[in-house]
Amino acid sequence: MTKQKLTPDCIVRIEKSGNRYNAWDTDGVKMTSKITSGCRKNAYNGNYLLGRFPSPSTKSGFSWRKVSDTMTETKTATPVVENSPIDIPSEHAEVLSFIHGSYSLKPKGLMMNELKWKYLVRSGVRGKNIMMTGPAGCGKTMAAKSLVNALDRPDYYFNLGATQDPRSTLIGNTHFDQGKGTFFSKSLFVEAIQTPNAVILLDELSRAHPDAWNILMTVLDYGQRYLRLDEADGSETIKVADGVTFVATANIGNEYTSTRVMDKALMDRFTIVEMDVLTEADENELLNYMFPNVDSSVLMSVAKIANLTRVESKSDTARITSGISTRTTVELCGLLYDGFNLEEASEVSIYPQYDNTGGVDSERTFVKQIVQKFCDDGSSADLFNEEEMAEAEVDNS
Ligand SMILES: Nc1ncnc2c1ncn2[C@@H]1O[C@H](COP(=O)(O)OP(=O)(O)OP(=O)(O)O)[C@@H](O)[C@H]1O
Ligand SMILES: [Mg+2]
Repeated sequence: MTKQKLTPDCIVRIEKSGNRYNAWDTDGVKMTSKITSGCRKNAYNGNYLLGRFPSPSTKSGFSWRKVSDTMTETKTATPVVENSPIDIPSEHAEVLSFIHGSYSLKPKGLMMNELKWKYLVRSGVRGKNIMMTGPAGCGKTMAAKSLVNALDRPDYYFNLGATQDPRSTLIGNTHFDQGKGTFFSKSLFVEAIQTPNAVILLDELSRAHPDAWNILMTVLDYGQRYLRLDEADGSETIKVADGVTFVATANIGNEYTSTRVMDKALMDRFTIVEMDVLTEADENELLNYMFPNVDSSVLMSVAKIANLTRVESKSDTARITSGISTRTTVELCGLLYDGFNLEEASEVSIYPQYDNTGGVDSERTFVKQIVQKFCDDGSSADLFNEEEMAEAEVDNS
């Protein structure tokens, strides 16, 4: 049997920009968001091209693989894509058309209304410090990363919620070497702020250590824009290069206790872009877009369940403290796609997020009742009403 040789329908080259690995196809179209970061990084480090091959068993219908040696002639045939990282329109007319034509740069899989997206792009183009706010799992990080992709400037990513040592992340470390003695190695952040027109993502800033906020205070201040390498007065400072944009994300006003209350002075240094929690219709649209192979009536049920919990958590007499996030609905639908039914998927992905104490009066029981409503008859039942809830409770006890 001869093995059929597959040819890729698209070939990309990986370039490093800041700490990001961008993918460009032969027409100069940016494909970064279509390929996992690990795959891009390996291709860059291994100095090979990636090809897109049809792969019916995967959700997307294709997979990205190293283009084999026999394909190397393609490499020379590949037009050199002029990737000017400093691609910021300067004339006002250009700025206007860039901002107002930018909705097409929003990835289809990101649900964000046009005005908010344009405001985000505009803030980025104008070099504002941007803060994406909203509850957990509503797309803050996704929107911030999408902006970075759309702007096509050198970019850097720092997850401040994950670092316990802000000084070494933001400033650097002092080392000792037998030969050299004590020396200081500057952090990647120092490199980032010195890169003209860089877009610097400060993810989970609200969860950062207060030391991080203090260090960032002068960096973010439009009047100062410098980083001090040492607390001591008169110590060396590093100037933030021209055109640098900071994009931070924060979980503000949500239920997470790990989120420290952000300092007012720090918040004042940002232009706020609030991410909306999706409406039932938008949630349904997103799930249908992401999971075209899952029964759309079940997807509709998921959107309804999420919406009911969100409405409930906002009501005066709320029996649950938070609604189901879009992150959770997406995860849940991933389980549906993998053959779990709604009941099973809810049990593992939704229920553990709700407190079980208090038995029938617990948050978990309440959410279970909502889910059950959609599992029992397998259809997207109409909104349950007070009597029905009461009945369900009696049944449960
Ligand atoms: N508005 C949205 N549009 C599309 N997908 C979304 C949206 N919101 C959430 N998601 C889905 O949920 C996942 C998590 O989103 P993301 O990481 O951006 O949330 P977040 O707001 O940064 O949450 P956290 O506060 O926990 O950091 C995404 O990978 C995506 O699948
Ligand atoms: Mg996030």
